[in-house]
Amino acid sequence: MNGGKTGNPEAVRSLVVVFSYHHDNTRKIARALARVLGADLRTPSEVGPDEIAEYDLVGFGSGIYHATFDPSMLDLVDRLPPSPGKMAFLFSTCGAPAFAVSREFVAKNHSQIRERLQAKGYRVIGEFGCPGWNTNGPLRFIGGLNRGRPDENDLGNAEAFAWELMEKARG
Ligand SMILES: Cc1cc2nc3c(=O)[nH]c(=O)nc-3n(C[C@H](O)[C@H](O)[C@H](O)COP(=O)(O)O)c2cc1C
Repeated sequence: MNGGKTGNPEAVRSLVVVFSYHHDNTRKIARALARVLGADLRTPSEVGPDEIAEYDLVGFGSGIYHATFDPSMLDLVDRLPPSPGKMAFLFSTCGAPAFAVSREFVAKNHSQIRERLQAKGYRVIGEFGCPGWNTNGPLRFIGGLNRGRPDENDLGNAEAFAWELMEKARG
């Protein structure tokens, strides 16, 4: 719990699904989001399409691997039942240098999962991305990029994003 400061989940049942394996970067963001939203937190292997269908608001998050979400997240979305109007949000951490992590770059990394969700009828009401520590390939020889990210500032931004989501979800 965040010192008892959590969103009021009464009106909106929320779920956060996250895939994070490289340095747990995206899991840190997922925990911050779930705390504010009062959301349940699962990995793709822990949740099925039927359970997801029970929630009002579902967040899908992943590290960015080869410019997109992990295949397990994309497969999960492909298995969802048609859900016209259901609310979703997207989040990720990526290993590009921090100065390059623009809104456009994040949106591009999210395009495959966003399109698959929209094909199921989901309404994507928000997207969040930030840099994450990256020691992929030869980067490990120089200590990686974005060491220490996500940091306290990133987690604060994630919390602010979650509060905005709550406002939008309550409409
Ligand atoms: C196999 C692999 C591929 C990656 N591909 C990209 C990429 O295409 N673009 C990018 O910005 N970062 C890339 N990264 C860096 C990760 O997105 C970054 O480290 C992220 O924070 C990892 O999240 P995680 O710790 O939650 O798994 C890659 C990392 C790995 C291990």
